[in-house]
Amino acid sequence: MDLIDTARAVRENAHVPYSGFKVGAAIRTASGAVFAGCNVENLAYPQGTCAEAGAIAAMCAGGERVITEIAVIADAPMPVPPCGGCRQKLREFAGPDVAVIMATTDGAQTVMTLGELLPGAFEPGHMARATPGA
Ligand code: THU
Repeated sequence: MDLIDTARAVRENAHVPYSGFKVGAAIRTASGAVFAGCNVENLAYPQGTCAEAGAIAAMCAGGERVITEIAVIADAPMPVPPCGGCRQKLREFAGPDVAVIMATTDGAQTVMTLGELLPGAFEPGHMARATPGA
């Protein structure tokens, strides 16, 4: 199945009683496996999680760590990009050249790289002088 079709299908399972805004995300990994996630809101609003975070959690639970392609879909006037926090979460497992396909349920689609969406990312080199456990 197309990555966007997977994101479109999982979006239906989003738990969004507070925003009413369903989001679906799908991630393809180096092995070719696909992992999906939807947003899960919570009465304590900050505890809600984004669709991308759900897909990342499913990927890690499945034993994978290398993202090769990302898709996000929502019912919106224009394609919805991952939020700022999710861009950094995705960058943990995806290089700057990885394509992020953003789609609307109407069929509009935009593609950008993760590097375009998150220029100047916080990377391991920034912590080169850190001493864990200090
Ligand atoms: N949301 C996502 O799931 N992914 C994004 O990248 C943007 C925002 C969700 C969070 C919340 O449940 C709803 O959309 C409205 O912000």
